Amino acid sequence: MTLQVKSLDNVGAEVFGFDINEPISDEMRQELKALWYEYAILLFRGQDITPGKQIEFSRIFGPLELHPLKTTTSEEYPELFILENGGDKDKHQTAFYHGKEIVGKLDWHMDLHYTGKPNHGALLRALVVAEQDGLTGFGDLEKAYNALDDGTRAQIAGIEVAYQFNMQRRKMRFVDVEGYEPGPDLPKSPADMGFPDFPDAIYPCVVEHPVTGRKILEIVEQFLDRVIEPEQVGMSEAQADELLRRLVAHTRKPEFHYIHRWEEGDMVLWDNWRVMHCTTGTKPGVKRLINRTTIEGAVVLGRQLQEAS
Ligand SMILES: [Fe+2]
Repeated sequence: MTLQVKSLDNVGAEVFGFDINEPISDEMRQELKALWYEYAILLFRGQDITPGKQIEFSRIFGPLELHPLKTTTSEEYPELFILENGGDKDKHQTAFYHGKEIVGKLDWHMDLHYTGKPNHGALLRALVVAEQDGLTGFGDLEKAYNALDDGTRAQIAGIEVAYQFNMQRRKMRFVDVEGYEPGPDLPKSPADMGFPDFPDAIYPCVVEHPVTGRKILEIVEQFLDRVIEPEQVGMSEAQADELLRRLVAHTRKPEFHYIHRWEEGDMVLWDNWRVMHCTTGTKPGVKRLINRTTIEGAVVLGRQLQEAS
């Protein structure tokens, strides 16, 4: 078996030319892992795969993590997290965007970013797909960093940014809330979800990838709140906000994005230390089923504010 690779739109790559159910040699494991670090977003199509096989395949990329939302994991396969839409629980994910009711729309984010210890990656496999909508976007923040001009790189080299966890989208300072109305059953506080009150997570604006050492623009709009002590780097708070607005606008440029339209059997693996993701959501009542496995993030990339001395 030899792996073949084809670049996706803008970022990421499709990998084909192998059968996931055939034994995967050590050499091929190394090759897959190298491709993951090179492209950060890997698409595999049409693989006929059991949950057990998904777990086994995911382990190629590192030890797996159990998702904190335990209620939705599979009892038989604790490493598997089941994302399901089209049932009773949809009301807790429903909101209005310019008057349209949408289930499960999520802004650009990195998983567990608000804890300071994001997981390393995740693999999604689509079992039931929405005919319309239900897209997942991936944004490469290494590419976004590389596209910054020298002046901006110098400006952000020494700064730190704070992320403030909040269940309420309207309270997030850098997401686009124009035309947004929360649905009546959306959780309002972390306690509604059984979450603790997370302290703010502080990241350098530029993070070095723990494996590749390459630079990542650590700016994701969800939960982004402020620059830490901007006056120490010669900025007023207003200037710091303006800088963050400019950086968020930069990360939203389509040239850093791959938007995946799901087909049944698709698997997408991404590097959550480098890539942000978002979802468009669906209309109410649309069935969608995705099996997710998560690669553990053993590295702390941000610190929690309460630990600061
Ligand atoms: Fe996510």
